[in-house]
Amino acid sequence: MKHFLSIIDCPNDRLKELLRISTRLKSLYSVGGTDLCLQGKTLAMLFEKPSLRTRISFQVAMTDLGGSAIYVKPEDIGGIGKREPIKDIARVLSRYVSGIMARTFEHSTVTELAEFATVPVINALTDFSHPCQAMADVFTISEQCEDIKGTKIAFIGDGNNVARSLAFASAKLGMKMVVASPAGYELDAETIEKANQISADSVRQTNDPGAAVLDTDIIYTDTWVSMGQEDEKQKRQADFAGFQVNAELVKSAPANVKIMHCLPAYRGLEITDEVIESPNSIMFDQAENRLHFQRALLKKLLS
Ligand code: CP
Ligand code: NVA
Repeated sequence: MKHFLSIIDCPNDRLKELLRISTRLKSLYSVGGTDLCLQGKTLAMLFEKPSLRTRISFQVAMTDLGGSAIYVKPEDIGGIGKREPIKDIARVLSRYVSGIMARTFEHSTVTELAEFATVPVINALTDFSHPCQAMADVFTISEQCEDIKGTKIAFIGDGNNVARSLAFASAKLGMKMVVASPAGYELDAETIEKANQISADSVRQTNDPGAAVLDTDIIYTDTWVSMGQEDEKQKRQADFAGFQVNAELVKSAPANVKIMHCLPAYRGLEITDEVIESPNSIMFDQAENRLHFQRALLKKLLS
């Protein structure tokens, strides 16, 4: 496994191995242990978009494993692919660092970095996908449910990058996902088809959030306005009315349903403050698990 760009390209046994390493490292670090497998290694972190969780958890993970990380804003290097071609950035960085992590608008930016880098490249979110998030989510679900296999996820909202990676993870790891979106904001047909080719009936789409949550184990939501879509904010907020995760929707689900959100959450829009703060919410464990999963990923890719 050289790069980590998309869940769909990652063999199932690798995904399961990453989950096992996450569990092992989480317990090790919880009792004050350390695994300094990345001593002398450096990760370059390129960010075209803002980040709290991804940036800090990757930086902490590198430090925890004995390595270090360098945060690079596009303006520091004259833009990714602007001052110089992406392929040159990839080859130059490969001479200095042991790994490159990138959060970009275009998915082709991370695939091009990977094509030309001689060190591992990690997708830290693109407009297309967010695989580190989805794997931390599966890790969180594995801590909550006896067996991730057969776990039902109702994703309420935009068929976006987060939904897409979760759909691939569901198909690969035996979960069942239903995506409830307003017309025009569904998960694309190709993603659903690919997921169902991996595992039949693993992902389906509906326009009815109430029906989606009836017998679900997990309700998951994300912002209606992803980074880069700010110009569509007003239209999206109107179009997503009726798709809020609120107490009324949660009431239709089983009483022990868990509520997840990749964060940041926009309270009063895709989810209410009441639901975020309710005992069913596991979103801060979910956020914490970004760190545990990424330690495992970095150990696997860079050590
Ligand atoms: N969930 C997530 O990726 O958060 P950040 O945008 O803060 O990194
Ligand atoms: N879908 C959101 C996820 C943020 C972590 C976005 O792309 O902005």
